[in-house]
Amino acid sequence: MIEVRNLCKSYGDYKAVIDVSFTAAKGQIVGFLGPNGAGKTTTIRMLSTFLPPTSGSATVAGFDIVAQSDEVRRRIGYLPENPPLYGEMTVEEYLRFVGDIKGVPRASLRSRISEVLERCFIVDVRRKLCQHLSRGYRQRVGLAQAIIHEPEVIILDEPTSGLDPRQIIEIRQLIKSLGRDHTVLLSTHILPEVSMVCNKVVIISRGRVVMESLLSELSRDKSLEQVFLESVSREEVVDAAACVNQGA
Ligand SMILES: Nc1ncnc2c1ncn2[C@@H]1O[C@H](COP(=O)(O)OP(=O)(O)OP(=O)(O)O)[C@@H](O)[C@H]1O
Ligand SMILES: [Mg+2]
Repeated sequence: MIEVRNLCKSYGDYKAVIDVSFTAAKGQIVGFLGPNGAGKTTTIRMLSTFLPPTSGSATVAGFDIVAQSDEVRRRIGYLPENPPLYGEMTVEEYLRFVGDIKGVPRASLRSRISEVLERCFIVDVRRKLCQHLSRGYRQRVGLAQAIIHEPEVIILDEPTSGLDPRQIIEIRQLIKSLGRDHTVLLSTHILPEVSMVCNKVVIISRGRVVMESLLSELSRDKSLEQVFLESVSREEVVDAAACVNQGA
């Protein structure tokens, strides 16, 4: 469903993503784990076709992210770091707008909106203007717009950032339930989040993938914590240790 091959991205002389390769199969929830600045958002923006790669390639749902970017966009749900809400629309209006653009048939749009309002725990704020939402609620509406058209592949950049502890638990449950019928790639710097939500982990450190493994294969001989701390670069060990202890 997602196949990444030697993807690179430079900003001027700075290499933010270097030779990144990994796969995410149908039904997998893949945690893209790395400390701040590791290259998670840059990789995700390339996979969601918002940023052209410097070199390398990737396919999402079978389509090339550069040559067939329209096809890719049609098949993904994408939650960026900062959800792209229109402040002057109510939550309901915004979801109707997004659903329409994404081709949800008019006849089923109303029921689809009700469904995502419930799934993302935003029924209570459906008549609020997006500009009046708190950070956590903006995040939940961002998640709702990502799944409204039932995309094959869901790409989430730090989906639990800005949520309070109860919301984090609810959103993690939601993501787990999405994993049954979709392929999910989520970025995070919170290691316990990967253990709780994902069945595969891809660790990125200083722009390079340093580890790709199913969680079921990891736990036999080593914990995810050990692998993570051993695989990041020396400069990142302190940041990585903080990731291990966050958000449990
Ligand atoms: N537009 C840009 N121009 C120059 N450098 C950039 C740009 N965007 C990102 N970078 C740099 O590329 C590196 C990777 O950034 P990226 O945002 O992909 O990291 P990240 O893993 O998502 O971090 P975080 O956990 O903080 O969100 C960082 O060193 C960042 O400063
Ligand atoms: Mg980021």
